[in-house]
Amino acid sequence: MSATTLEQALAAFERRLPERIGEHHSCALLREAIDYHFGFGEFGPARRGKRLRPQMLFRFAFQLGADLKRTLDAAVAIEILHNYSLVHDDIEDRDELRHGRPTLWARYGIPQAINAGDAMCAISFLSLARSEKDLGAARALYAVRVLHEAHREMCDGQALDLAFESRPSVAFDEYLEMIAGKTSALFGAASALGAICADADATTVERARSFGREYGMAFQIRDDILGIWGDEAETGKRVAGDLARRKWSFPIVWALSQPASPARSTVATMYASGRSLDRDEVEAVRNALDELAARPACEHAIAQRLDTLRRFGDNDLYRFAADSLR
Ligand code: IPE
Ligand code: IPE
Ligand code: MG
Ligand code: MG
Repeated sequence: MSATTLEQALAAFERRLPERIGEHHSCALLREAIDYHFGFGEFGPARRGKRLRPQMLFRFAFQLGADLKRTLDAAVAIEILHNYSLVHDDIEDRDELRHGRPTLWARYGIPQAINAGDAMCAISFLSLARSEKDLGAARALYAVRVLHEAHREMCDGQALDLAFESRPSVAFDEYLEMIAGKTSALFGAASALGAICADADATTVERARSFGREYGMAFQIRDDILGIWGDEAETGKRVAGDLARRKWSFPIVWALSQPASPARSTVATMYASGRSLDRDEVEAVRNALDELAARPACEHAIAQRLDTLRRFGDNDLYRFAADSLR
């Protein structure tokens, strides 16, 4: 697809998103909290999300021949669902910074952040239901099933992620199951929804979903890297929070699968401590990961996933995947 078409789609998306959020007349408090999260109205202009899921949806949809009108409400629905997951995720992870600003719960408190997240989930659903007008009832219902099956899987992934925080060890397979749920399922839904908007057959929808899922796995490994070695000014999130909470991210799971060494022991001992790590301990774990060359191991895992994506044979989609995973 041409770059202008995607640009136009994203511009239309940025207009439709606040429209769909505004039309439901949530109470003043929730309206404010949701506007705050997105950086809309009096809270803007603010740094925004990367809109990767809508981009994925648009790319599949346009490539398969859909016009913009058929895609917008689905693109808005997946972005709102993703943002509801961020609001709840920040409560669960006790993270106080996102997009370079205090998280919704840090500003409005946990109970109202739960309500705001729930309202966003409902608005996402309502936005997708609006696509019945352009897609027809059967396609719209297909889209609802695909999105909310991914949503359900995402809850599993989030539950595993939290349960792992108090585990003495996590195997590779368990880590992969966790990220498949918390991150990759929604990217799978984004690409599948694109194909659904284009009226594609079930085989094409499944193929699109596989691409999105594979991309989502690589995306989470990149997010894991950024959570340890990233630059706070770039990510807008607190770096090292994952290590402080002893999250089982790719570099940790990989490091602990390596042969015995002093660096491996440092990581193992810190992660077996059963409590949050302080700044010096976080630094010690990061140094040990560097010594073990955990970062190149993550890069290798991403490159392997990208190889799989290349084999899907679509150069445009592959380029998008590779560029956004840099
Ligand atoms: C963050 O996703 C949550 C993960 C699944 C790792 P993004 O990095 O796509 O978040 P935004 O939308 O750009 O804020
Ligand atoms: C990503 O969770 C998955 C969801 C938000 C559902 P993370 O906790 O790994 O993502 P960040 O790093 O906080 O964005
Ligand atoms: Mg988080
Ligand atoms: Mg999390």
